[in-house]
Amino acid sequence: MLRILIILCFAMSFTVSCYGETTSPTNMKQIDSSLVEATAPQSQKTPAYNPIIIFGSSRSDGNTLQAIKLVIKNQPVPVIDLRGLNISDYDYDSMNASDDFIPLAEKMMEHNPIILATPVYWYSMSAVMKTFIDRWTDLLSIRKDLGRRLANKDLYIITSYGSSMPKGFEDPFSQTSDYFDMHYKGCFYFYSGKDTKQARENQLSAEKFHEQIFLPK
Ligand SMILES: Cc1cc2nc3c(=O)[nH]c(=O)nc-3n(C[C@H](O)[C@H](O)[C@H](O)COP(=O)(O)O)c2cc1C
Repeated sequence: MLRILIILCFAMSFTVSCYGETTSPTNMKQIDSSLVEATAPQSQKTPAYNPIIIFGSSRSDGNTLQAIKLVIKNQPVPVIDLRGLNISDYDYDSMNASDDFIPLAEKMMEHNPIILATPVYWYSMSAVMKTFIDRWTDLLSIRKDLGRRLANKDLYIITSYGSSMPKGFEDPFSQTSDYFDMHYKGCFYFYSGKDTKQARENQLSAEKFHEQIFLPK
């Protein structure tokens, strides 16, 4: 009972929102089902198909959120906004082991696929997303048990960019995925610039990405 209460307290500190019936950022609400799921016995965990989006932008209501909405449409997918969490830089001495990273990593283990959403900032992922990925190093040291559970999960990326698609943008994701024995499945590039022709292509490529994630063959 005490253990369940502790896990509930951790989980409630997350900014967890569910986009589906309502997609307005102002309507972000906690979903209690995720808390129940976090305490379920091992045998009931990790349904075959149960996506989660980890979202890391310098703004919570910008173009990357728009890209997420275009991909998930009306699917009830939990979206975790990294800006709302306390996840500090990687620390070799793991002095930050009690911040929000490990509870989020534990939550991630209940889901498959894992979808990371980040804007392109200077040809790369956002700083908040990079900090989050750096912390996966904890899953090779203090929480190897969790690191092992990433194996065989699918990883997708959603990104938004303003001018040109950066070369090699996906490499850190696909290589990190390989390192953890995950399956890298690809990236949706949402164009947020002013060129109307390029902007029109967003809809079609989002549709294809949606099918890839939600209607896998
Ligand atoms: C700090 C910063 C760096 C950026 N670097 C790039 C870049 O290298 N290539 C690009 O195409 N767009 C770049 N952009 C534009 C953003 O990728 C684009 O506006 C994106 O849609 C922003 O998403 P957001 O609203 O979630 O922040 C940059 C924007 C910012 C604020």
